[in-house]
Amino acid sequence: MQHVKIVEVGPRDGLQNEKQQVPLAAKLELIRRLAGAGFAAIEAGAFVSPKWVPQMADSAELLKALDASDTIDTIAYPVLVPNEQGLDAALAAGAREIAVFGAASESFSQKNINASIAESLRRFESVMRRAQAANIRVRGYVSCVVGCPYEGQVAPAKVAEVAAALLDMGCYEISLGDTIGVGTPASVHLMLDAVLRKAPADRLAGHFHDTYGMAIANIRAALDSGIRVFDASVAGLGGCPYARGASGNVASEDVAYLLQGEGYHTGIDLTKLVAAAWYIADALGKPPASKLAHALGRQA
Ligand code: HMG
Ligand code: MG
Repeated sequence: MQHVKIVEVGPRDGLQNEKQQVPLAAKLELIRRLAGAGFAAIEAGAFVSPKWVPQMADSAELLKALDASDTIDTIAYPVLVPNEQGLDAALAAGAREIAVFGAASESFSQKNINASIAESLRRFESVMRRAQAANIRVRGYVSCVVGCPYEGQVAPAKVAEVAAALLDMGCYEISLGDTIGVGTPASVHLMLDAVLRKAPADRLAGHFHDTYGMAIANIRAALDSGIRVFDASVAGLGGCPYARGASGNVASEDVAYLLQGEGYHTGIDLTKLVAAAWYIADALGKPPASKLAHALGRQA
C-alpha cells in the first residue's frame, strides 16, 4: 500500500486565524490528541511578530512543553520562522524543524511578511545557513500558488521559480499553498505542471484551502500529478490573517477519509482524529468545518 503523508497544520495555520486567544493548555491537549491520532508531523506554532499574529505569541512556551513530551523523538513539530530574529527564538525554545514561508505574489509577500519576494529569499538564505549549521531541517512554503487576494491569478512560472529558489537554498520539501482556495483541478494541474518541470514530485507538498469547496478535488488532482504529501488542518480550522477572504484549510479528517478510500496508507486513526476535531471545536465554541466530523458525530 502506498503511503501518503498528512502534515497536520491546525495548531499553527488553524489557530493563527482565530479571533479568540486559545489557552496554551488547550493547544497542548489538541496536539496530544493529534499525536495520538497518528500524525508524524504537526506544525505547532510560529516565531513571528506577536503584534502581527498575537495567537502565536506562546510558541516558545508551547515548544518547551513539547520538548518534555514523550513524542518529541518520534513526531516532527515544525514552527514557522520569517527571519533571523524568529530563528533565534525558535532555537532558544528547542525547535528541531522550522519552515520559512514565501509567496509567488509580490503584494501578498508585502502584506504577509513586509518584504518583497526577493528580499524574503535573502532573509531565508541567512536563516537557512544558520539552521543547517544547527542541524535543523527547513521546510519551505510558497503561498498564493494559484491566486492572490490582491493580484488575482498567479502565473505558474512564478510559483515554479520561487519553489525552485527555496529548494536550491536547501529546503527539504516545498509546500505549495492555495492560500485563498481559488484553485480548481484544472488550475492546480497547470500550476503543478510548471513546478514539476523544476522540482521532483517527492520534494513537493500540497496545501489547499477550502474557500470554494474545491480542496478535496484539488488534492485528488495533485495525487494524479504524483504529490504524496498534503497539509491539512483538524476541523478545517484556519486561514491566513493576511489573505483577505481566505477561509479554512482543508480538514484533516476529510483528507484522511479521501486517502484511505483511495487505497493509500496514512497512519491516521479516523476515530481519534474526529474526536480531536470535536475537542478543538468545543474549545472554540463552534462546530467543526469538516464533513466527516458531522457524519461520524461526537461519539465517533
Ligand atoms: P516588520 O514589522 O517588517 O519587522 O515585520 P521589523 O524587522 O521591522 O521589526 C518590527 C518589530 O517586529 C520589532 O519589534 C521586532 O522586534 C519585531 P518592536 O521593536 O516594534 O517591538 N519582530 C519580531 N518579533 C517576533 N518574532 C520575529 C520578529 N521579527 C521582527 N520573528 C515580520 C516582519 C516578518 C516579523 C512580520 O511581518 C510578521 O511577523 N509576519 C508574520 C505573518 C504571519 O505569520 N502570517 C501567517 C503565516 S503565513 C500563512 O499562513 C500561509 C501559509 O499557511 C501557506 C498558505 O496557506 O498558503 C504558510
Ligand atoms: Mg495555510
